[in-house]
Amino acid sequence: MQKITVKAGSDIALIKYWGKKDKILRLPANGSISMILDSLFSTTTVEFSLSLSADEVLIAGEVEEGESSRVVKHLDRIRSLAKSNGLIDKDIFAKVVSENNFPKSTGLSSSSSGFAALTIAASKAIGLNLSEKELSILARQGSGSACRCVCGGFVEWLDGETSSESYAQSFAGPNDFLIRDLVTIVSEDKKNLSSTQGHDLAETSPFFAARQQKISAKLDAVKKAIFSNDFITLGELVEAEALEFHSILLTSSPTILLFYPGTIEVMQLVRSLRSSGVPVYFTINTGFNVHVLTLPEYEDQVLMALKKLPSVQKIIASSVGLKPQYLEQHLF
Ligand code: PMV
Repeated sequence: MQKITVKAGSDIALIKYWGKKDKILRLPANGSISMILDSLFSTTTVEFSLSLSADEVLIAGEVEEGESSRVVKHLDRIRSLAKSNGLIDKDIFAKVVSENNFPKSTGLSSSSSGFAALTIAASKAIGLNLSEKELSILARQGSGSACRCVCGGFVEWLDGETSSESYAQSFAGPNDFLIRDLVTIVSEDKKNLSSTQGHDLAETSPFFAARQQKISAKLDAVKKAIFSNDFITLGELVEAEALEFHSILLTSSPTILLFYPGTIEVMQLVRSLRSSGVPVYFTINTGFNVHVLTLPEYEDQVLMALKKLPSVQKIIASSVGLKPQYLEQHLF
């Protein structure tokens, strides 16, 4: 059996997936839109071998029980698909090695790119030949937002009522709208909330139902702003969405407060740059690190201002990324 290596970009949700209507199948409460990032990625090598008596999983050089068992469950899904396609008749185990080029468990969506890379590499390594839609449906079951990271450019995840209806597709290419994302790291602490725990609490916020009512209009407005390269409208929508999302977290029961002082400093800096005429906006996922979005011609100015903040540890500047790629060079 072939050894396969895949590199997949992480993404940043412009309209967030938050809450699930089916926990087992990971059907989201609402549709979402993201852009794939080319400078933050996971690389994963998978090889199935008859000589293994169990799966071996190494992520970022560590064997971590919780993460490994999620990966093994995902390999089980892929094995059972391979069985139903007549490719294997008994369980065959895999060695999986995965690396990220950015800090994991800090709210920068390493599980999205990780599960996208794993899905593509493992399904190919076992002999399956899946379409992008099939890969997206499969990746979704490993980690919801991973279904977007099997695509490139600007991506929409259709919420769907059934598993086969809930997948992502790209609606604009990486070069259709040249946005820069300055991923601003104020801490590499491991976040103390897994997104799975957070999704389960979404409905406890009294504002969750109100969010659901407006979400499809928001999705349409974001797509329209992307199609028309209207950065100001997009930025206003995306920043308001990030604050609405964190309002849901802040008002869940128990409450969830993820911001660090550095997070607030970056948010305030973005707003003060904007009031001086610079087109720049922020968005934040389940963490304290901030995605600062701007246009290429303003990037240096924004970078310089961010670097002056004492709380900023590191900035990874990214463009909108391509879909995942197969690599010739393996991790083992
Ligand atoms: O895919 P998960 O379970 O890691 O959840 C992702 C949740 C957010 O990052 C906050 C939003 C999103 O759409 O990526």
